[in-house]
Amino acid sequence: MGDSVIRIKGLHKSYETSAGLFPVLKDVGLQVAAGEFVAIMGPSGSGKSTFMNILGCLDEPTSGRYELNGRDVANLDRDELAALRNRTIGFVFQGFNLLPRMSLQDNVALPLIYCGVERDERHQRARDLLAKVGLERYFESMPNKISGGQQQRVAIARALVNQPRLILADEPTGNLDSHTGEEIMALFDSLNREGITIVLVTHEADIAQHAHRQVHFLDGRIVNDHAVQREHSA
Ligand SMILES: Nc1ncnc2c1ncn2[C@@H]1O[C@H](COP(=O)(O)OP(=O)(O)O)[C@@H](O)[C@H]1O
Ligand SMILES: [Mg+2]
Repeated sequence: MGDSVIRIKGLHKSYETSAGLFPVLKDVGLQVAAGEFVAIMGPSGSGKSTFMNILGCLDEPTSGRYELNGRDVANLDRDELAALRNRTIGFVFQGFNLLPRMSLQDNVALPLIYCGVERDERHQRARDLLAKVGLERYFESMPNKISGGQQQRVAIARALVNQPRLILADEPTGNLDSHTGEEIMALFDSLNREGITIVLVTHEADIAQHAHRQVHFLDGRIVNDHAVQREHSA
C-alpha cells in the first residue's frame, strides 16, 4: 500500500442558510493512496462538489480531519495552504475556466507567474504541455477558436503546469459529447499511468469505468466504495 495522498476522517460540512444550518457532508471518511484513480459518483446535490472543494483546500470542513500528503490542513495558515495547493494539486472543472482574452499558451502558463517562473521558461513549459495534450499547433490561438474538447485539453495542460501529483476533476466531461469525453478520459488514463493520482467526479457509468475505484455519495454520505471490475481488454 502506497502512502496516502488523501486521508479524511469524520468530515462534516454544513452551510448556513436562512432556514438554519444545512448539512451537506455527514461523517465522510476516505483514504486515497498515491497512484490511485478514483471516481466519485452520486446524484446531483449529493455533495460531490462540496467534497471536491474541500479536497482541493478551496473550502473548509465544518468539522473532521483532512490530511493532504500527511499534513493536517487545519494547521496551515493561508499562505501555507496556498503553497501546498499550488505545488500538490491540479484542478480541472466542467466549464474549462479558461481566460477568454489570453492565448492558449498564456492560459497554460498563468499559474507559473504566481510561482515566480521567468517568462521564457513559462512559455517553454506551456508549449511542452500543449504538445503533450495534442495542441502544439494552437499555442497562439484564443480559447473561443477551438472546440470544447480542445479547451478541456488546454485546461488539463494548465492543471499540469506545476507538476502536481494529484489531479482533482469535477465532471470534466460533463459539457462534452461522449466521443470527446472518451478522448479526454484517455488523457486522464495516461496521466494516471505516469503515476499521477486522480480523483474525478462523474455521474456517467462509462466515464467512471476508467477509474480503478468508485466511491458513491448519497445525501452527503459515502454509501459505497468498491474496486472497478475491469472489462477484458485486448
Ligand atoms: N454555498 C452553499 N450554500 C448553501 N448550500 C449549498 C452551497 N453549496 C452547495 N450547497 C448545497 O449542498 C448540496 C450539495 O451540493 P453539491 O456539493 O454541489 O452537490 P453535487 O456536486 O453532488 O451536485 C446541495 O443541496 C446544494 O444546494
Ligand atoms: Mg457538482
